[in-house]
Amino acid sequence: MQTTVLEVDPDAPAAAAIEAAAAVLRRGGLVALPTETVYGLGANALDRDAVGRIFAAKERPATDPLIVHVADVSQVSTVAREMSAVARALAERFWPGPLTLILPKQAAVPGEVTAGLDTVAVRVPAHPVMRAVLAACGCPIAAPSANRFSRPSPTRAAHVRTDLDGRVDLILDAGPTPVGVESTIVDLTASPALVRRPGGVPVEALREVLADIAVATPAEADVSVGQVAPGQLLKHYAPAAPLTLYQGARDAVIRRVAADARTHAAAGERVAILAPEEDLIELAPLIAAQAAGGHVITQPVGARRDQARAARELFDAVRTVDLPRVDRILATAPDDTGLGRAILDRLRRAAEGRVISV
Ligand code: TXA
Ligand code: MG
Repeated sequence: MQTTVLEVDPDAPAAAAIEAAAAVLRRGGLVALPTETVYGLGANALDRDAVGRIFAAKERPATDPLIVHVADVSQVSTVAREMSAVARALAERFWPGPLTLILPKQAAVPGEVTAGLDTVAVRVPAHPVMRAVLAACGCPIAAPSANRFSRPSPTRAAHVRTDLDGRVDLILDAGPTPVGVESTIVDLTASPALVRRPGGVPVEALREVLADIAVATPAEADVSVGQVAPGQLLKHYAPAAPLTLYQGARDAVIRRVAADARTHAAAGERVAILAPEEDLIELAPLIAAQAAGGHVITQPVGARRDQARAARELFDAVRTVDLPRVDRILATAPDDTGLGRAILDRLRRAAEGRVISV
């Protein structure tokens, strides 16, 4: 298949590009398109053959359910049986936006979308391009992140092309996505409501609307959820080189990362360090010789003082250091608050258990 790429203005997308995307969706094809979180790989959610093509293109296991995107809250009833008062309150506050609600499934949604579950993940996205395509096609759009399975999520059209060129009909390129981490997933079929994946809406903001909300621990998300959210598996977002995550008191973490980088470099490895700007400034004098020799490279992930920028830059930073000539990636943990919780979650998954507490 030949993949067409159309550039679109993120704020005022041209009607021709939107209509082209809607036409592909109506005939059962695949369109990669920007949402405010990450690029999604979209298909008509009510067309089971089209949905099957998503799994084939991504090489995603059929046991991993998809998120269904709808144009507005009034369309939720086409895919979910009911919206509780709590669901309505969360929708009212956070939609359109990076929040996904797990609700009882409507029969019209093919089992392929939900991996056979009786629940469906739904969100109303905020990106003007995604909203325009939803309005033009008139159908709910099932869309996982537009990456190959177990690759970092795409925040730029170039990431989508790297992973899916020749596997999708059309890519709408609207530049980098503004949030950068995926939506927060709240399971409203659990009691109390359960955050299954931290994301673009911070847990602190959810609690302002709903005080009684639990957060799945990484261990719970990994083991006990099983079939319910296999996308929560630890082996996810993994770059090719092993990534080790360092957490603990900041000064101690910085000294330990520097020491380990020097040790690996001395052993002939090429090391990449992923960290917020503030950490890289303190690391610089400790690894100056190794950096000058080309044995250690550094890649900023936003800044501690600006979590939104850190979230926006995270996946691009991971892809940037994921090079054949990098043997090892060392990352410092962000603060575990606000958007930092989502960033930490993605780094933990990328680390696949290689976490050093200093
Ligand atoms: O921001 C986002 O959420 C992006 C954009 C494209 O909307 N989408 C995204 O989709 O991240 P994906 O497929 O990469 O992640 C969806 C997650 C998976 O971990 C999946 O297991 C979970 O949602 N999920 C979907 N339906 C579910 C359900 N019925 N119950 C529990 N988890 C569900
Ligand atoms: Mg994904």
